[in-house]
Amino acid sequence: MNSKKENILVVDDNNDMLDLIQRQLKTFNYRTYKASSVNEAIEVLKNTTIDLLISDLNMPEINGMELLKYTDEHYPAIPKLVISGVPSIPSVVCAIKSGALDYLTKPFTSDELYKAIRSSLVKNNLLANDFHSKNEDLYSNIIGKSVHSKNVVEIIERVKDTKATILIEGESGTGKELIARAIHFTSKTAHKPFIAVNCGGIPENLAESELFGHIKGSFTGAIETKTGLFQAASGGTIFLDEIGNTPLSLQIKLLRVIQEKEILRVGATKPEKIDVRIISATNSNLEEMIAKGLFREDLYYRLNVANIKTTPLRERKEDIPLLIKTFIDKYSNEYNKPGIKINEKVTEVLLRYDWPGNIRELENIIQRMIIMSDDLITLNQVPENLKYHIPTSPEILKSLKEYEKEQILKVLAFVNHNKTKAAQILQIDRKTINQKIA
Ligand SMILES: Nc1ncnc2c1ncn2[C@@H]1O[C@H](COP(=O)(O)OP(=O)(O)O)[C@@H](O)[C@H]1O
Ligand SMILES: [Mg+2]
Repeated sequence: MNSKKENILVVDDNNDMLDLIQRQLKTFNYRTYKASSVNEAIEVLKNTTIDLLISDLNMPEINGMELLKYTDEHYPAIPKLVISGVPSIPSVVCAIKSGALDYLTKPFTSDELYKAIRSSLVKNNLLANDFHSKNEDLYSNIIGKSVHSKNVVEIIERVKDTKATILIEGESGTGKELIARAIHFTSKTAHKPFIAVNCGGIPENLAESELFGHIKGSFTGAIETKTGLFQAASGGTIFLDEIGNTPLSLQIKLLRVIQEKEILRVGATKPEKIDVRIISATNSNLEEMIAKGLFREDLYYRLNVANIKTTPLRERKEDIPLLIKTFIDKYSNEYNKPGIKINEKVTEVLLRYDWPGNIRELENIIQRMIIMSDDLITLNQVPENLKYHIPTSPEILKSLKEYEKEQILKVLAFVNHNKTKAAQILQIDRKTINQKIA
């Protein structure tokens, strides 16, 4: 979602560690590149613009220290963060000497990791001062000058530092997740995790254990005691996406969690207190679902203390030009086609289209057109279904004859049915106007 997301390269020979760090970095809104050896890491460095290197020291074959030296030599601007299991003084000193700025001892908490990353990035002036520039990025990510976009930013400002639950409603692709992230990452708890869960995506029999955790041996397959996503988001935000797809059996459990502010792991007898902000999102009409008995009304009210409704793109077409510009900038960079232009005719087609897939669809189409063009996007690159699209707005579905009739009647009414004056205004002669009226 964030075109200015920092790219972080993580190097560790232990794949579990790599996955763990990647998951944590994702919740902090960074983009992760993984490498399990120094050679792999060097390949990534050669092909990608990396903003921060996080590396283990003890690795078989080539030691992490070699990678630090290599990076220092070839990419001196990249800050380095060393993570290591053996916190021996000599290795620390050595790491610092070789240019590593920060050092984190395994095991570390996700909080410690976040602070170390921020501090490395800040020291390297990638971030002017801590959260500030990142926050601005997140707002500038919500592109739009329409009343809709302004309203959204205003609501975010109001709710971000409260504990209120927030329900975001709107069609698919209208930016619900983007808004949820903006709320979290501009709030005071931005340094805590943001965890997104697709409520319809977890099989019903696993959902409870995924969300709330379980106790070792509580069911077949529960080999270890497991922390649920609610606890993993502790202090931060849990984003319940597609909340309308939550099975009824789970809805009642969610309700309990919100009311009691505690969770019960599967197989546990004692509940545990939790402190998380809950943001949910849906593209279905929950009120209709309530009427049909598919969604609990009490849960709906609990989730919906603050409400944000996103507007479909076709109802705020004034945002389209700026979105086009933003996505062209973003993808011309990504595909190395700087200065690529868009033909005015193409913009017209894009403005006429109804965008059933909303901003996601617009973004995909721009991306595709950039891939297919050289330095100018022309009608040739526009997908057929867009080119020959007839807008559903009734205003435009009129024949010339109908327009003509309407215009003549309007003018006649304006001049109190004085046909001579009407003919003058319409720039036709009296004979023609008589014919038309007939
Ligand atoms: N106002 C906006 N400005 C820029 N990009 C946006 C905006 N709204 C949505 N997007 C982009 O559109 C895509 C879909 O947004 P997303 O938040 O996933 O939508 P939803 O959750 O409603 O389906 C994402 O790539 C997102 O970055
Ligand atoms: Mg979504």
